[in-house]
Amino acid sequence: MGEENSDYTKNFVDLRRHMWIEGVEVELRRLIWQIAVVGKYISAKIHESNRKLAGFKNVYGDEQLALDRISDDILKSQLKFSGFVREYASEELEDIIKIGTGKEKYIVTADPLDGSSLVDTNLAIGTIIGIHKESILDSGRRTMVAALYITYGPLITMIYSAGQGAHEFVLDREGEYVLSQENIRLKEKGSIFSPGGLRRDWIPEHLKFVEQLEKDGYKLRYSGGFVPDINQILIKKGGIFTYPALKKSPQGKLRLLFELQPMAFIMEQAGGLATDGNQDILSLKVENVNQLSPIYIGSVTEVQMAKKILSA
Ligand code: AHG
Ligand code: MN
Ligand code: MN
Repeated sequence: MGEENSDYTKNFVDLRRHMWIEGVEVELRRLIWQIAVVGKYISAKIHESNRKLAGFKNVYGDEQLALDRISDDILKSQLKFSGFVREYASEELEDIIKIGTGKEKYIVTADPLDGSSLVDTNLAIGTIIGIHKESILDSGRRTMVAALYITYGPLITMIYSAGQGAHEFVLDREGEYVLSQENIRLKEKGSIFSPGGLRRDWIPEHLKFVEQLEKDGYKLRYSGGFVPDINQILIKKGGIFTYPALKKSPQGKLRLLFELQPMAFIMEQAGGLATDGNQDILSLKVENVNQLSPIYIGSVTEVQMAKKILSA
């Protein structure tokens, strides 16, 4: 029986094979694979850290870096030697840094560890990656060619899109990312919502939107971790995540480059929408790396309802 025909190989599609079948160009395939491997190292660090965060001394008296910075270091060094990345920007760095010769094809943005303040509660946290071909600043055009996020929960799962749909993989016991669902498609409408921020800080329009969702019987789902909160909307195939403009901070809390753009790319690939309440997230001009934006992201019905109420 040929290797291709055995039941095992037919059903066992790992990440590399999936990207090859999808026709993802070879350097992008290799880059996505190398980032997925970093997820395993970051997960090991989360376990090793024994839930200790910054400012702790480990048993040998060494200063223990925050998990955010350790995760950033691991990611940066993997990308530096990948041969595919000329610039890197992350939530943990002041600005974009050159990490290649300048001739490499891609620029990578990262939130190396999102939700690290939840580590001690053992709630799920994640890594968010955006991959761009051209400059990530002042473009205003859609420069993103791929995005992925890894969720460190009861399972380690990874969702990627290289522009042909959004696909989920589960890390198996042998350390392989095995395809669990491909071409995830959101329904028109869901039944869950994440409100973001504090009710007393919301702008009146956001309060009106949330009250409408509550009236329509939507269930509140909010862990405080952006990655699992978004992941549940994708996996439940509908609903809306919001982190709104607040009275004291009209741009909300979440970072456009490191958190919102990659999730917007993936959600759109799954047939959803992502806006700042008015414009598409992916069309917003990025003036600086730490730019914030309000976000309404999820299935079409809820995002359009939000836009309507916010523009009234
Ligand atoms: P990070 O850990 O990368 O700083 O991100 C934390 C973010 C995001 O994960 C989440 O959606 C948001 O903080 C939650 O904010 P609130 O605690 O204000 O709800
Ligand atoms: Mn974050
Ligand atoms: Mn972070």
